[in-house]
Amino acid sequence: MTLPGNWLLRHSASARLLLHSLVVLMSFCVHRITANCSRSCYCSESPDGGQEVRCSSMHLAHVPRDLPNDTRHLYLDYNRLTTIPTDAFLGLTLLSELDLSHNELAQLEPGAFRGLAGSLEFLDLSSNRLIALNPLAFEGIRSQANLTHNPWHCDCSLQSAMPLLDLEPTSLAGVVCQTSEPAEAAVQGLPFLLAAGADLCVSVKKTTDVAMLVTMFGWFAMVISYLIYYVRHNQEDARRHMEYLKSLPGRQGRSEQSSTLSTVV
Ligand SMILES: *[C@@H]1O[C@H](CO)[C@@H](O)[C@H](O)[C@H]1NC(C)=O
Ligand SMILES: *[C@@H]1O[C@H](CO)[C@@H](O)[C@H](O)[C@H]1NC(C)=O
Ligand SMILES: *[C@@H]1O[C@H](CO)[C@@H](O)[C@H](O)[C@H]1NC(C)=O
Repeated sequence: MTLPGNWLLRHSASARLLLHSLVVLMSFCVHRITANCSRSCYCSESPDGGQEVRCSSMHLAHVPRDLPNDTRHLYLDYNRLTTIPTDAFLGLTLLSELDLSHNELAQLEPGAFRGLAGSLEFLDLSSNRLIALNPLAFEGIRSQANLTHNPWHCDCSLQSAMPLLDLEPTSLAGVVCQTSEPAEAAVQGLPFLLAAGADLCVSVKKTTDVAMLVTMFGWFAMVISYLIYYVRHNQEDARRHMEYLKSLPGRQGRSEQSSTLSTVV
């Protein structure tokens, strides 16, 4: 019969080795979770590779700058973001899901999602304060997007922006007009895409037409007044020329007189 102490003594070397490698493995794991994760977020391994980075409800006013470059899912919902600056997510080449919902976003700078065109599959911009769609913010982004629960202002610029977006077409059904220009376009409360036949650029075209008309009238008036002036001026000239011609013999005599006078002197 062998004593447990004896057994321990015999196996202590391998036990210590086991313990040591366990500690190393644990510290490696902790290091892996904390070392390259943002200060204001929680990171974990994503089942589809890369990291899942959770920064929800952290009172963030700015997009963290220290996000790990292998972030695949990024949750920035329920924060205080008011704008997405240019190149905010540059370098996150694996990012496939970006949740920016329930913030105070009123603006997306040009190039806000630059660098994500190749990877992004889902973009959540719902429950924000977006009024206008800036196509320059979405350059090349083909993902599905949740654009609902925003106070969209439907006008000619929004209508012009729509065809420039590469977003999954069904996403655009989330653009429900809260206000519109012209106000009488009757698109309020409707998804812009379903407001059939509404051409919000018509009134803009009308005002351009009026401006053109006014400008043309102005030019016309200028040309006419110039013509009148020209004719009047010429009449004056002609009259003076006639008077000159009439007075010509007399003046000629007088000038001959003066020339003889000067030779005498
Ligand atoms: C994150 O850290 C681990 C271990 O420190 C490292 O192996 C991995 O390459 C790092 N990932 C990135 C994206 O820097
Ligand atoms: C992240 O950065 C590290 C070090 O700069 C680099 O080796 C790694 O390839 C990068 N990973 C990705 C997914 O870009
Ligand atoms: C879009 O966002 C709204 C509000 O945040 C949510 O209720 C809805 O389920 C979302 N839609 C999709 C398709 O994810």
